[in-house]
Amino acid sequence: MTKYIYVFDAYGTLFDVHSAIARFRHEIGERAEQMSDMWRIKQLEYTWTRTLMGEYRDFRALTVEALDYAAARFGGISVPLREKLLAAYERLDAYPDAAAALRKLKENGAGTAILSNGTPDMLASAVESAGLADLVDRVLSVDAVHRFKTAPETYALVDDAFGAPRDAISFQSSNRWDIAGARKFGFHTVWINRAGHPDEYADLSPHAVLGSLEGLPAL
Ligand code: LAC
Repeated sequence: MTKYIYVFDAYGTLFDVHSAIARFRHEIGERAEQMSDMWRIKQLEYTWTRTLMGEYRDFRALTVEALDYAAARFGGISVPLREKLLAAYERLDAYPDAAAALRKLKENGAGTAILSNGTPDMLASAVESAGLADLVDRVLSVDAVHRFKTAPETYALVDDAFGAPRDAISFQSSNRWDIAGARKFGFHTVWINRAGHPDEYADLSPHAVLGSLEGLPAL
């Protein structure tokens, strides 16, 4: 019997990237949500530009640079608050559906993994603090190939880790661009459209779309 492997993106899919700033909303005020969006947008932009340039810096460094930019755009933050936000990013909240979805897959005999832009340290901390360590078989970081998603070498880390046929891999991400990359690579793809965003990348469409990790379809 084929063993199916369910691979999850980390940030935005299992972990709520906006939970860091949300914890300090009382200190940041009304600009908090906009700053959080800008932090995320810039963090991702840096991954793409640096991969295209061939000038790798790891995801933790880009997360710091992106926070500094976002803070500057919205009037600045104090040094202690900056430190608190960066510490919070190492211990983000998992979405409430994450543990249950992973547990169900494991009970059904599937393999589970994370494939993320995050550094191994960041991911270990996030998985541990969210209590997901026993539910994830492998944590794969693009740091091993010094390129970020959607470079094919990043998705190939799953091939190397499991040696499973690509149609036995179900890839889940809330990031539509990540789904496009994984689809192009040949995985079965499930877009977790948590925010109810419109579709894009029409030529690289997901095999399934869900509003959360509940009810992941069996392969
Ligand atoms: C990740 C980012 C893209 O975890 O969310 O890879």
